[in-house]
Amino acid sequence: MTSVAWTNIGELSTADPSLGEGALGVLRDAAIVAVDGVISWVGPSSSCPAADEAHDMAGRAVLPGFVDAHMHPVFAGDRAAEFDARMTGTPYTAGGIRTTVAATRAASDADLARNAARLAAEAARQGTTTLEAKSGYGLTVRDEQRSLVAARTVTDETTFLGAHVVPVEYADRPDDYVELVCGEMLDACAPHAKWADVFIERGAFDRDQARAILEAARAKGLGLRVHANQLTQGEGVRLGVELGAASVDHCTNLGDEDIEALAGSGTVATLVPGAEFSTRSAYAPARRLWDAGVTVAIASDCNPGSSYTTSMPLMIALAVREMGLSPAQAVWAATAGGAASLRRDDIGVLAPGRRADLIALDAPSHVHLAYRPGVPLVTDVWRSADRLPSAV
Ligand code: NIG
Ligand code: FE
Repeated sequence: MTSVAWTNIGELSTADPSLGEGALGVLRDAAIVAVDGVISWVGPSSSCPAADEAHDMAGRAVLPGFVDAHMHPVFAGDRAAEFDARMTGTPYTAGGIRTTVAATRAASDADLARNAARLAAEAARQGTTTLEAKSGYGLTVRDEQRSLVAARTVTDETTFLGAHVVPVEYADRPDDYVELVCGEMLDACAPHAKWADVFIERGAFDRDQARAILEAARAKGLGLRVHANQLTQGEGVRLGVELGAASVDHCTNLGDEDIEALAGSGTVATLVPGAEFSTRSAYAPARRLWDAGVTVAIASDCNPGSSYTTSMPLMIALAVREMGLSPAQAVWAATAGGAASLRRDDIGVLAPGRRADLIALDAPSHVHLAYRPGVPLVTDVWRSADRLPSAV
């Protein structure tokens, strides 16, 4: 049994409103103790129990590690030229995905795993202690399966996204592709995945195709997630809610009926401001969702097309500046919200019984994550009380 204490925490954001002040449950002059990687005690620093190992946080802010519930880190190549063209007026479309599919199919298993590991390490240095990883750039039985094997090398939160877009070889027979995804591809991928996801969008999959795929995946025991209402106000959000998806992601174009459906549901709205930033789109209505009582998460959507960033601090800054969340709400959405999106009750919150996944900032308060955008404030990262390499 090994115990670790973090003492002299100037501001502890627990992400449990019942433990302290405001949406983030903030405590001041606090301490945490973990035993064998799990938090056993949270309270005033002055009464912190003795531990085998102690870290003096010298008044700095401590938060839960970020839970990035939406990433696409398994791919090859990049799309800098597409981004460059977009910044001078070419619109973003679902079709750009096919460029990355060609590069991914040509890459070796080792290259895919190496790229995923590079992005996971980059995310961890910026405070991400749990991440979700999707397939979706293979789009053959073999390439989707090996993408998930690569994803598993960086996380247990793996998602089968064979229904990312219809690949070129099926362009004139999309229903045959849907049949492949629901049958042979799902059979090969389900053992390597916890979740299934479908991109419901003009140019990707429609409501009926998505329903068939999601129901087949659910029958195989996978949890459901949906790329919904990203480019157009389609039916993705309502389908996700109807099918009991854990999360509907993007939610950029929502009607009142979508917000109402989410508010009365157990489905989390996982918002990805990096995609809106990098495609120069209007942002998702985070504040309206939060005020309607929807559980909101924010995630990076790290992928080579619409959001080539792993930075959860940037997502927090965007959620505050562009989406109307307060700094406390944005940090909650990046921690406890991400955990809810993945239906995890062991991470995302700093309370007894939770995993000791925490970060320290070179700042006195969580507010600085939005107040000082672009500055590498995350100095220390621990997962299960083990220190990871950090940014500074
Ligand atoms: O979440 N929307 C679909 N998939 C990704 C983009 C993929 C790409 O452009 O390569 C997203 O934004
Ligand atoms: Fe995505």
